[in-house]
Amino acid sequence: MNQSTASLPQLSDQHSPQAILRAGLQAAGGPVALACSFSVEDVVIIDLLQEVAPATPIFALDTGRLNEETYETAEAVRERYGVHIDWYFPERAAVEQLERDKGLFSFRESLENRKECCRIRKVEPLGRALAGLSGWITGLRREQSVTRDALEPLEIDAAHGGILKINPLAFWSSAQVWEYAERRRIPVNRLHRQGYPSIGCAPCTRAVQPGEDERAGRWWWENPEHKECGLHRR
Ligand code: ADX
Ligand code: SF4
Repeated sequence: MNQSTASLPQLSDQHSPQAILRAGLQAAGGPVALACSFSVEDVVIIDLLQEVAPATPIFALDTGRLNEETYETAEAVRERYGVHIDWYFPERAAVEQLERDKGLFSFRESLENRKECCRIRKVEPLGRALAGLSGWITGLRREQSVTRDALEPLEIDAAHGGILKINPLAFWSSAQVWEYAERRRIPVNRLHRQGYPSIGCAPCTRAVQPGEDERAGRWWWENPEHKECGLHRR
């Protein structure tokens, strides 16, 4: 169901992630799924969903370049919660063409090449994952970067046909996420404890230095305002 921003429930930082999830699921008025990268944020949301709406489907985009630690976390999550993960792969022919034409690290050569790789490995599969949904849930938070500081807990996702985007952790700080993760002893990607606050594909993510921005290790060779892969166009 497509709708306008004005018709959405008004939510503030006084609302808990559970309240945002409940309001979002109701406002979507149809099927909703969680997009899960197995970051600490996304596993916190899976944990919250066990209480709020345990049957919510979960999908993950396997770009073919994820870290081993991310796959291990995915399996730990599957075991802990008994959930089914709908994995999506990129189109085989598109990846073959990209690698044959431009090699395995074309994304380091230019912003255009980086966006091309993200388009093939993430954005196109996301489009398939979202087909038929009225809304999707993400682990985005305002504090993560300059590109996310105006994020709302409920948004109309114009880039994906006007479906609802539910960001239950929009107002949470990293400290709040970790306090919850530790209290609930949720499975956590080991890379988080090795200096990676944000984890994407292996060749495009590195650890950050103390005091650096949370997303400084993502596409570290690019300017902060370019650090979006196209999953979250606003
Ligand atoms: S990204 O756009 O830069 O890659 P980021 O890693 O910060 O995004 O994650 C933000 C949110 O996007 C996650 O909380 C999750 O909802 C979604 N997301 C990111 N990567 C994936 C993935 N590989 N599979 C499914 N969802 C993802
Ligand atoms: Fe390609 Fe890097 Fe984007 Fe992953 S993050 S899809 S490897 S450019």
